[in-house]
Amino acid sequence: MEFSVKSGSPEKQRSACIVVGVFEPRRLSPIAEQLDKISEGYISSLLRRGDLEGKPGQMLLLHHVPNVLSERVLLVGCGKERELDERQYKQIIKKTISTLNETGSMEAVCFLTELHVKGRDTYWKVRQAVETTKDSLYTFNQFKSNKPETRRPLRKLVFNVPTRRELSLGERAIAHGLAVASGVKAGKDLGNMPPNVANPAYLASQARRLADDFESVTTKIIGEQEMKELGMTSYLAVGQGSKNEAMMSVIEYKGHPDPQAKPIVLIGKGLTFDSGGISIKPSANMDEMKYDMCGAATVFGAMKALAKLNLPLNVVGVLAGCENMPGGGAYRPGDILTTMSGQTVEVLNTDAEGRLVLCDALTYVERFEPEAVVDVATLTGACVVALGNHISGLISNHNPLAHELINASEQAGDRAWRLPMSDEYQDQLASPFADMANLGTPGAGTITAGCFLSRFAKKYNWAHLDIAGTAWVGGKDKSATGRPVPLLVQFLLNRAGQDAVE
Ligand code: BES
Ligand code: MN
Ligand code: ZN
Repeated sequence: MEFSVKSGSPEKQRSACIVVGVFEPRRLSPIAEQLDKISEGYISSLLRRGDLEGKPGQMLLLHHVPNVLSERVLLVGCGKERELDERQYKQIIKKTISTLNETGSMEAVCFLTELHVKGRDTYWKVRQAVETTKDSLYTFNQFKSNKPETRRPLRKLVFNVPTRRELSLGERAIAHGLAVASGVKAGKDLGNMPPNVANPAYLASQARRLADDFESVTTKIIGEQEMKELGMTSYLAVGQGSKNEAMMSVIEYKGHPDPQAKPIVLIGKGLTFDSGGISIKPSANMDEMKYDMCGAATVFGAMKALAKLNLPLNVVGVLAGCENMPGGGAYRPGDILTTMSGQTVEVLNTDAEGRLVLCDALTYVERFEPEAVVDVATLTGACVVALGNHISGLISNHNPLAHELINASEQAGDRAWRLPMSDEYQDQLASPFADMANLGTPGAGTITAGCFLSRFAKKYNWAHLDIAGTAWVGGKDKSATGRPVPLLVQFLLNRAGQDAVE
């Protein structure tokens, strides 16, 4: 799929299709108006006849519009002009892409990027259009014997911007959008891969490949032997019931002019399958626990996007790969583990395993003297109760970092919402036998999990993203979403000082 920007008038385009907006009720956008003029009122006459009201997502494909050079004109309903917001804009783009793809237009010039979207500029509109296009054309069918094929798929999309002055902004938006989209795709592919393929060694092999593909990247794999030497007992305990060796992949990206500059560290929970262990999960939908590595998958995706963008930063990405299985060798409720930090943990539930893996990863990364650490994890079902599937949970020990991430999440359209953390919640983790339990008393499960992690993140500025509700969609059309790759990449773009304007 090829993207470009252009600044021209609709009647001069010689394309398979031009895409223009129509507002509700039957009101032409300025560009549609231009086409209407040169076609001597052809379009407005159709609207008068009631062929298109302009409701959001309505589509009307026209062939051979009089005096128009392009073969087709796609009229797209955009709803009420004043109500066009980010969400509606993305939905309209999505619908447009599937229509173009299904109706045989292999290329198109899209004028929807000229519509006014509340509070958003050309950079944002072009970038979101690229990301949404890639997102809606995504398929994962490598395990299907008969792969469904589109006969004349969309290959080339040109976005029109209002003025020539905005061309370079548009090009930048495409570059950023493509990098994010490639990270999202990498995250989705890893997430959707079945757990008998995508085990911790598979995560490690992907991490190694990233180092092969980019000179700025080096990868180191820490297996169980080295974990033992490092004292990562808690991480090891979670994996000890599995035949698949636990492996932590450490991906180092160096792009900062000063190679010694302190890195930003991203850590992803990589439970390639979470059966719950001895505290086994119910069978219904247990297959979806292959997605318990989406934290690692999206950290991988963000590292890939970062390497493509060549940002002037040093960043370390850690994929904390592990499998949680029951069995004769598995860890059990009642076990007391000594974490790498020296703090002891009483295991009350082997299904609260993510924090036991992450706590040792958090201690491990102290060696990088990080500028900031962000961990990403499908950590708690409670987060889905609190925020549903729309917004990720955020917990942090550093207000400026929390604000930075919330801002990035809003810019990227990949939202996160901060939850509080305070001593009352910390007290819920008390254990009679160890320094803490791996489970809080009932209530605020996402926060108590965050509190647990915070005890291992005292030496640096830290934030935690709970993506249990946002990392995948379940049910019949289940798929990983690639979230929060857009958020993470935006955070890095902002850190590198590379936002919309040069
Ligand atoms: N991976 C799960 C969290 C999860 C559950 C994510 C459902 C998405 C959907 C995690 O390891 C887990 O099992 N958490 C437990 C914690 C509990 C035992 C304190 C949970 O949320 O039920
Ligand atoms: Mn679990
Ligand atoms: Zn889990």
